[in-house]
Amino acid sequence: MNKKVTRRTFVKVAGATALASTTELPSFSSNAVAQTGNTGRDFPQGFVWGTATASYQIEGAVKEDGRGPSIWDTFSHTPGKVVNNATGDVANNHYHLYKSDVQLMKALGVKAYRFSIAWPRVFPNGDGPPNPKGLDFYNRLVDELLANGIQPYATLYHWDLPQSLQDRFGGWEGRDTANAFADYAGYVTARLTDRVKHIFTINEFGAFIEVGYRWGIHAPGLKLPPSRLNQTRHHAVLGHGLAVQAIRAAAKSGTKIGLAENITIPVPVVETASHLAAAERAMREMNAQYLTVIQEGKYTDWYLKSAGADAPKFTPDELKIISSPLDFVGINIYTAEFVRADESSPAGYAHVPRPKSFPHAPSFWLFIVPDALYWGSRHVSKLWGAKEIYITENGCSAADEPAQDGRVYDTDRVQYLRSYLTQLRRATAEGVPVKGYFLWSLMDNFEWADGYTNRFGIHYVDYATQKRTPKLSADFYREVIARNAIV
Ligand code: NOJ
Repeated sequence: MNKKVTRRTFVKVAGATALASTTELPSFSSNAVAQTGNTGRDFPQGFVWGTATASYQIEGAVKEDGRGPSIWDTFSHTPGKVVNNATGDVANNHYHLYKSDVQLMKALGVKAYRFSIAWPRVFPNGDGPPNPKGLDFYNRLVDELLANGIQPYATLYHWDLPQSLQDRFGGWEGRDTANAFADYAGYVTARLTDRVKHIFTINEFGAFIEVGYRWGIHAPGLKLPPSRLNQTRHHAVLGHGLAVQAIRAAAKSGTKIGLAENITIPVPVVETASHLAAAERAMREMNAQYLTVIQEGKYTDWYLKSAGADAPKFTPDELKIISSPLDFVGINIYTAEFVRADESSPAGYAHVPRPKSFPHAPSFWLFIVPDALYWGSRHVSKLWGAKEIYITENGCSAADEPAQDGRVYDTDRVQYLRSYLTQLRRATAEGVPVKGYFLWSLMDNFEWADGYTNRFGIHYVDYATQKRTPKLSADFYREVIARNAIV
């Protein structure tokens, strides 16, 4: 034994070790990391850790304080559209429980919260007279977040389109909806940006248009033919661009504007120069109707050529509006595609089919590809020079059954998060400018056409009692945030 270690100090150290071994994961405490310095798992200083939700998925209170009906009210009340005919009428009752939900966030230690504003609360008909009581709710929420040290990040459109716009203009199929969206965006921005410094225009063009207007699985439940579908896609990106301009005009200084898109991510099937070049080509083409035109101000030649007579009608001025400069790019990342180099294909790449055995979460589409976080953020930075990127959603569904002790040991979700974050860390370590990460979701909620069957939360929600219980993944995430590192 080292001479300097007296019997007294030895007993003290040994005692501390024995004590530590009786507590949870002693050797991995924040202190231990602080003492060992850079573990190779840390994130850049000031990295923004957050959680995300969306209005129709959690709020409930669909008829309160003057809220108008949305296309999701109509859709979920149409028998057979949502599993078990579930609706968002009550959902997580967040409209009334928002204060205790903010306490859940505080206990996690998140620095930021991404929520969405229900357009039909603010403009019950989508346009026309506003309903001040609707915005009051978000004023209360924002004040509560700030009082608890949490930065609000607000999304203006997360799919709950006012039904009246669907009835009058065919929703996003009509250009009038894009104009109404810009007016609504300006109205909200003028009133919130004294406190909300990050505004997202639209959440996931690639989901609400494709699933709602092409496959008819989400509201408004349409299966449009190609020419009308392409025009609808065009109006959605146009609505985004018009909103960016309206927000810039109305916002208080210091407001940052972006979007949250679920890019399709091509992963090079093997990391070689030729597959990587193919993946970069694929990235532009696979996102041609949405993020590519927003970033480049033009539709790709390949998209226009393949659409032929069904291509959207547009003017050069509209392309300028669509590509109005953004302050940051938000990307929602869950999964990815694999591509390979293929010089024989005119597009210069080919899809690699996914084997039947490829692992996925209970959501049938959620194939587990941790590299998605690396490649998604890298492509956005490399191809379009984005200087500020946020992962605006990432997470997974899981079976989540409470154990006998009442806790939910979602070890599968913890594995998912750990492996995805490892790839995100690879990106930040290589200098990809990812500034923050929003875990989807703070709590289980209404998962669109899946109703309440697929749980994505890190808090378990008992819908009969509205009790929220932290899952194991909440413990995991709290540690990640506290150490600013993967644990
Ligand atoms: C993306 C959507 O933005 C969100 O609403 C949805 O719940 C998650 N993906 C999970 O499917």
